Amino acid sequence: MAFTVAIDGPAAAGKGTISAAVARHFGFRHLDTGLLYRATGARVLNGQDAAEAARTLEPEDIQPTDLRTAEVSEAASRVAAIPEVRAALVAFQRRFARLGDGAVLDGRDIGTVICPEAEVKLFVTASARTRAARRHAELADGTSLEEVLADVERRDARDRGRVDSPLRPASDAVTIDTSTLSAEEAIARAIATIAPIWANR
Ligand code: CDP
Repeated sequence: MAFTVAIDGPAAAGKGTISAAVARHFGFRHLDTGLLYRATGARVLNGQDAAEAARTLEPEDIQPTDLRTAEVSEAASRVAAIPEVRAALVAFQRRFARLGDGAVLDGRDIGTVICPEAEVKLFVTASARTRAARRHAELADGTSLEEVLADVERRDARDRGRVDSPLRPASDAVTIDTSTLSAEEAIARAIATIAPIWANR
């Protein structure tokens, strides 16, 4: 029986950490859907047409190496506003969500567009400053905190403002604000939300 956990939220909110921990705890498969947009953005930076890049993605394109740079983040958020790019990536994500017993997908539109029937929907957020500080520590590549904050805010505005699949919480999503939570506390909250629904499936 399919069981899907949809985890959405703005840039660097901690979705990846929570998703990986939830997947480990419950034995679910995990798809970081941001990697699909990052891989598409990386191909566009190499000169490929965006829709063509999304249509021809291969598993080796979404290996996380080199996909976390600020340049790729920005390219990902630009291609993510193109409806043909999103359309090309829908079927793969839906198959992943509903195939087999237990899947976690994290992104921007999982609970609203990719899998509105998800058994659990979480919206993970935090203040822009907190998110930027965390991403700044993670990147440690010489980019200033102010630059990271500007990047995060620019991507958020684009993700929230686009016409196709904008970032927003599903009406039945449980919000976890991680601004004042440690990673362990945020993970514990996510697990506590999912556990009773998983047990009663
Ligand atoms: O890790 P971070 O939260 O910074 O970003 P990500 O989840 O890897 O996503 C990179 C970009 O892909 C985002 O800024 C979005 O524009 C886009 N994205 C999207 O539009 N829809 C998704 N389901 C996942 C990512």
